[in-house]
Amino acid sequence: MCGIVAYVGAQDAAPILLDGLARLEYRGYDSAGIAVAARESRRAAAAAAAAEAEGAKVRLCKRQGRVADLAAAVPARFRGTTGIGHTRWATHGEPSDANAHPHLDASGRFAVVHNGIIENADQLRAKLAAGGVEFASETDTEVLVHLVAEQAAAGLDLEAAVRGALGQVVGTYGIAVLDAQQPDRIVVARNGSPIVLGIGEKEMFAASDVAAVVRYTRQVVHLDDGELATVRADGFSTFTLDARATAKQPATAEIADADFDTAGHRHFLSKEIHEQPAALERTLSGRLDERFATAHLGGLNLTPREAREFRRVKILGCGSAYYAGEIGAQLIEELARIPAHAEPASEFRYRNPVIESDTLYIAVSQSGETYDTLAAVHEINRKGGRTLGVVNTVGSAIARECAGGVYLHAGPEVSVTSSKSFTCTSVAFALIALHLGRVHDLSPADGRRIVEALRALPGRITEVLEQEERIAELARQYAQYTSLMFVGRVRGWPAAREGAQKLKELSYLHAEAYPASELKHGPLALIGPELPTLAIVPDDELREKNLTTLGEIRARQGRVLMIGHSAPDPKLAEDVILVPRSEPELDPILLGIPLQLFAYHAALALGRDIDKPRNLAKSVTVE
Ligand code: G6P
Repeated sequence: MCGIVAYVGAQDAAPILLDGLARLEYRGYDSAGIAVAARESRRAAAAAAAAEAEGAKVRLCKRQGRVADLAAAVPARFRGTTGIGHTRWATHGEPSDANAHPHLDASGRFAVVHNGIIENADQLRAKLAAGGVEFASETDTEVLVHLVAEQAAAGLDLEAAVRGALGQVVGTYGIAVLDAQQPDRIVVARNGSPIVLGIGEKEMFAASDVAAVVRYTRQVVHLDDGELATVRADGFSTFTLDARATAKQPATAEIADADFDTAGHRHFLSKEIHEQPAALERTLSGRLDERFATAHLGGLNLTPREAREFRRVKILGCGSAYYAGEIGAQLIEELARIPAHAEPASEFRYRNPVIESDTLYIAVSQSGETYDTLAAVHEINRKGGRTLGVVNTVGSAIARECAGGVYLHAGPEVSVTSSKSFTCTSVAFALIALHLGRVHDLSPADGRRIVEALRALPGRITEVLEQEERIAELARQYAQYTSLMFVGRVRGWPAAREGAQKLKELSYLHAEAYPASELKHGPLALIGPELPTLAIVPDDELREKNLTTLGEIRARQGRVLMIGHSAPDPKLAEDVILVPRSEPELDPILLGIPLQLFAYHAALALGRDIDKPRNLAKSVTVE
């Protein structure tokens, strides 16, 4: 949530900052801004001296709205070879020009961009205001820039001023600070919100996400929490809040610039839905073992004995990650026969949870940054529990806090609503369930059955994707309703929940998911010609019960779109989407694919903002 980009080099910073912000826009898109330090002589030292003498100010341009609105507003002569930029998703203060970052101090010498939350912002604001500081915004971030200016006024250089400011702050931050009087450098810092440096040829980048820098360089350095860096065109130095130098080695970013291209699709979401077979191949790669009918997951860091000793599994995540966790809990119960349960991490962390040594905790997160999930991991770790991560983003905060885990290798997911990460997470859980199952009592024959079905899954997903045109036609029809019901039983239930979530997020239509078994206990009162139902009905042992539910809906003139393996009596469902059979335990994975296409095409028919739905952000790094 929110994106940061910074540049120091010989080129004009503004176009590079705007390009970086466009790459980060999926992280926040209610306002954006850039600040640059005025270009001075080529000799940085002379420039700094000249700037200081002049009482130099940064140049600033910021706007409510999208990065494209900002780009249109940046003046043609917006010169400066050092700069910082930000794209925002509002937390403190509504989206507005004033609340957009960067924020400046009163003299206009310093500019700050910030991701995260300053928890003691109110106290700091009161203190600064008492000292005569006038605030130009309602943001927590603005206190930072005034604190930096206060420290600098006491005679400190930029690095020391930033350290002095951060020493007063409680909360999470990723920041970049620009000083018009030292335009040869940027100072960045990380505590809970990621900062990565990008190392170029006589130019340097910094960003909250490698997405903003991979176009220019794949040599990156990830800062750790509590670490700062001074970034100059010809190098960088890293240090801690108490000014101890730290040693960092650059690594090569796994992802490439092409990952941030729509590759001919109209939207990232469409690209990411269609990438699922290839993404799944990567999730499965090297992990299936035919000989012992199991899954190899070295990153779990669990001996077979440890894996046997857990009596329960608790899965935590938010949004779609939570729903994928529900599929995971079912898979673990079915294949390993260990009681397993998923819970929203956002609830768990606040209820003083009981942490047990014989429970295996699994945190699920595409971004690896979701604050509620991270806080749940901290709570478990603090109480001595064992946590694994099912995470897409390598090296992310959640991945680093867990004792082990499974990386999805799904590749970057740009569209705000998840698609391939949901499917790959479900498959990662199938691997974990298989692994745990085979150290418990899952037979080799059943293990082999799952191994073979997992191998075949990418091809089966391709078969579902080939039905896109027909699903699109149905979605256009159903998009005419204002409200839709989604039902499923047992294995179909998490698929129904995620299907409803996708439709809500993308189309803004009201969608409600219910266990099919619960329909008659209340929501049947809603059913009528104006409320259609999407029903997940696999050919499993519950099919007959599900068909009875469809009969109850049809008896009340409710329209039914059934998603399953074989068509029922036409009286029970006006519309049917069929998916190929897999093994029953894996049904939820394949049954979810048509619902992604359904939500995408319904939203398209309604003219929605597909990749950036209103009010949502890709990763929510605040409480
Ligand atoms: C946000 C997004 C959701 C996502 C959730 C969890 O709410 O809008 O699409 O499922 O965060 O994100 P994570 O990165 O932890 O999987």
